Amino acid sequence: MNVMQKVLVNNVIPGSIISRDVYSKDGIILVSRGVAFREHFVKHFNEAGVKEIFVEENGQMTKDTMNHIRKSLHINDIVHEKTISQAQTQIKKTMIKISAAGSVNIARIGKLVEEIIDQLLEKQEFVFALSQLRSVDDYTYRHSVNVGVLSLVIGIDMSLDRDALRNLGIGAILHDIGKAVVPEDILKKPSSLTKEEFAEIKKHTDYGYEILKRTDVAEEAAQIALNHHEKYDGTGYQKGLKGTNIPLFSRIVAIADAYDAMSNDRVYQKKLSPDKVFKEITHLGDKHFDCEIMEKFARHLSIYPTGTGVILNTNHRGIVLRQNKLYPESPVVRVFRDERKDIRNLYVDIDLSITKHLYIANTF
Ligand SMILES: [Fe+2]
Repeated sequence: MNVMQKVLVNNVIPGSIISRDVYSKDGIILVSRGVAFREHFVKHFNEAGVKEIFVEENGQMTKDTMNHIRKSLHINDIVHEKTISQAQTQIKKTMIKISAAGSVNIARIGKLVEEIIDQLLEKQEFVFALSQLRSVDDYTYRHSVNVGVLSLVIGIDMSLDRDALRNLGIGAILHDIGKAVVPEDILKKPSSLTKEEFAEIKKHTDYGYEILKRTDVAEEAAQIALNHHEKYDGTGYQKGLKGTNIPLFSRIVAIADAYDAMSNDRVYQKKLSPDKVFKEITHLGDKHFDCEIMEKFARHLSIYPTGTGVILNTNHRGIVLRQNKLYPESPVVRVFRDERKDIRNLYVDIDLSITKHLYIANTF
């Protein structure tokens, strides 16, 4: 006898065999048992008021299964994709046009920063996932926007007023504007840099400050370009400022900059998985960054974002379904039956915050 299971229509994997006739609320037969579930049934069944159906258990976890479940997960954007891509385009235009003697037309960037602030303030709380901010194409420009968004997340957590948020957002988005006047062949050089080349790259902080000084932005925004490579322990550049001698906004942007850089492929280094970024960046907390700000930032980080593939200590594979706010390392995971078939159903949803013997050992 086939084992069957009741599954939410939205979660049925296409190809699953329907094991009981499906009726509408009015008692009209929609599909007979034995039929393979097809993607368009979801809409059809939802319209007929059918929320759950019975399907035969088949127990296979394929890539398609994974992708299907990922697609069905509801992931909220913390900032609309449209706004992000508009900001990205704007930065790109600005950086291409700028020359060493130039200034930036701030009106459009200012308006986009206002939009980002509005969208973030609309959220009651936000835990963000890397996947939501991940670079899709042009790393430099996307990175600039990501750093703006992440800095504003911290600024809002610190209850900065609206003017301060605006200045922080503008300075954060333009933090690397000085790179526009560093020769591209040095910036994109795939092999290691000579001393002179590295010295030239380091100058982007000075160049950026000079450009923003000629632009209609607040001094504290311009200072971000100048000081965002300073480190809390005094080992950064240009001046080697230490601790709270580094202006607050630059301490915020330094964290956002490092976080986004680690989360993306760069010229020299492959991106790290979210859990590794979390470990790495919090580990650097007392050396490179202001610990108090880091704590605030870490509260908004999703270690295992929804949709992440995880491997438990028992070697079972699964996908993160949702977060546990108080236990970010222990999300709710949909675990699939493996080859040993020791999980009876096709999958089982496990809340890792209440199952002490299970934990995430790795990601995939
Ligand atoms: Fe930089």
